[in-house]
Amino acid sequence: MNNRALAAITGASSGIGAEFARQLAARGFDLLLIARRQDRLQALADELAQSCNARSEILVADLATDADRERATARILAADNLALLVNNAGFGTQGAFSDADLASQEQMHRLHILATLDLTHAALRTFTRQGESTSTGRGIISVSSVAAFEQAPFNVSYCATKAWINSFMKGLSMELAAAGSAVRVQALCPGFTYSEFHDVLKMDRRAIPKSFWLRAEFVVAESLRGFDRNSLIVIPDWRYRWITRFIRMTPGPLMRSISIHYARKRRERARSFAAKT
Ligand SMILES: NC(=O)c1ccc[n+]([C@@H]2O[C@H](COP(=O)([O-])OP(=O)(O)OC[C@H]3O[C@@H](n4cnc5c(N)ncnc54)[C@H](OP(=O)(O)O)[C@@H]3O)[C@@H](O)[C@H]2O)c1
Repeated sequence: MNNRALAAITGASSGIGAEFARQLAARGFDLLLIARRQDRLQALADELAQSCNARSEILVADLATDADRERATARILAADNLALLVNNAGFGTQGAFSDADLASQEQMHRLHILATLDLTHAALRTFTRQGESTSTGRGIISVSSVAAFEQAPFNVSYCATKAWINSFMKGLSMELAAAGSAVRVQALCPGFTYSEFHDVLKMDRRAIPKSFWLRAEFVVAESLRGFDRNSLIVIPDWRYRWITRFIRMTPGPLMRSISIHYARKRRERARSFAAKT
């Protein structure tokens, strides 16, 4: 690696993370690409070397495990040219929490919360070591979700972990501002976005109207535009901005009743489907 600014991206092997790599490479960043699938990271690194002359380092890591999270943290701590950390790796699960396999729920908490916590701490230490003279344009983007604004049955851990990300980034931004730091932080909150997310989740995309689907290119462009303007919470697309505004303005007890009503209907549908088959 050299002295060009470095962007470290978790979950860079597909979807939104790979698109962050493409758009940041086009902006002249060197890249530290982190995920579990080495072949996908290598293919992306080759593509970006061709298209943007970008230099990429690959770090194969399962960030839900302590050992790999520690390895990734150590790499971020040693990255003297680090300018941007994108905490993007994540996944969803389906079904009721009480029916779910606990291991997958723990894995989600480790990935969304512990990995974000450890890597963010390491990045801030690295920025401090670099000194404030090079501080403009440095920062941390954590990929959250519009799910951070709600508590939804059958999506309990996902909403809770994404809400944690928003809260964490908000608190951090205040702490950094109070310290006079120029380091920028952002919680990026996309709605439904075409990626491998719904394949991993085994969800039929046809359940969601086409007009609600976003492209990763648009989501990442909005995030980076927000980063340039130092926006703390970025919600790409006006529809999702309205939906999250509606959720925030609806009284809690009403929101709760609506959620329980739809959860009951979903349970009834699942029961009658099971009875027929
Ligand atoms: N797509 C949507 O509709 C949507 C909406 C809102 C928010 N988001 C958020 O956007 C982020 C990116 O998701 P995506 O939509 O781009 O989905 P995706 O295409 O499935 O990408 C997920 C990425 O996370 C990586 N990852 C998963 N588990 C990992 C682990 N244990 N250790 C390291 N890396 C891991 C995957 O790489 P490997 O499998 O190679 O490890 C992959 O690169 C997630 O945080 C997701 O919650 C997505």
